[in-house]
Amino acid sequence: MRFSTLLSIISIFSSVNAIGDLAFDLGVQANSGACKTASDYKSDLAALSSYTSKVRVYAASDCNTLQILGPVAEEAGFSIFLGIWPTDDAHFSSEKAALTTYLPAIKKSTVELITVGSEALYRQDLTASALGDAIDSIRDLIADINDSEGNSYSGTPVGFVDSWNVLVDGGSLPAISAADVVFANAFSYWQGQTQQNASYSFFDDIMQALQTIQSAKGETDITFWIGETGWPTEGTAFESSTPSLDNAQSFWNDAICAIRGWGVNVIAFEAFDEDWKPDTSGTSDVEKHWGIWDSSRNLKYDLSCNFSS
Ligand SMILES: *[C@@H]1O[C@H](CO)[C@@H](O)[C@H](O)[C@H]1NC(C)=O
Ligand SMILES: *[C@@H]1O[C@H](CO)[C@@H](O)[C@H](O)[C@H]1NC(C)=O
Repeated sequence: MRFSTLLSIISIFSSVNAIGDLAFDLGVQANSGACKTASDYKSDLAALSSYTSKVRVYAASDCNTLQILGPVAEEAGFSIFLGIWPTDDAHFSSEKAALTTYLPAIKKSTVELITVGSEALYRQDLTASALGDAIDSIRDLIADINDSEGNSYSGTPVGFVDSWNVLVDGGSLPAISAADVVFANAFSYWQGQTQQNASYSFFDDIMQALQTIQSAKGETDITFWIGETGWPTEGTAFESSTPSLDNAQSFWNDAICAIRGWGVNVIAFEAFDEDWKPDTSGTSDVEKHWGIWDSSRNLKYDLSCNFSS
């Protein structure tokens, strides 16, 4: 990495002083492929509870996630980063209906924030201005919903998640402008990076995303998380990236712990291996091996970070 790049990374990241927070992306299908039950979620959250009290899910209505996970998370003292799919009208309507029906049954604090779309711009499912409109419409919708204690969901942050390179592209600005919160996904693995360069590449990606967001919104006006990052432990190599336990452990220590040490919040992809995911072709046999815990909820590697070094 160039020295000037490192300096700008440090100056951007050091605008935040505290150690970055940690959460996990959580799948909603059990190993059989069936939707998780309340009891599955209870066991999931119990496994995660030594490391976090926050999980991210991708949709409200799919697998009745908000209905089932909401009360379980609340009981376990967890909060949820709740995803909403905006990309086709029927699905978006179901997502809104889930908010209207199930948000009143839980406390406002249980849904920490809402992200509309997951890499919708990357996939070109929506334009950035249509995504901005969808963010605004969810913000308006929840302002008229009260929680189980009579508090309005008005003020709950609403934003979106996308790939770092799409955020850096100036075309995403209409969505960034509409958002209270932006998550950037960055996978050195899918950039085919060597293990040696994986953490540098990760810092560089996130630095660029953060710089774009901060210049659009100002430093204090936005909540920023890395929405997905991680390293698979098994499967076929992708270019110079090799799945292995050792490499996943190194990425954890050198990339995830390091960037948290600079004050950046990280959602690690993903909590548990997902055995139900199919092997299709090429490198997709890694898809079931991104878990930090295996599919029986055994931790695969050491998650301690030495922030003092
Ligand atoms: C939400 O609570 C406010 C204040 O108590 C009340 O005026 C409003 O009618 C409630 N809205 C709904 C949808 O229950
Ligand atoms: C390391 O990563 C940076 C940033 O992604 C990239 O520009 C560079 O080409 C990579 N270096 C090597 C040796 O792969």
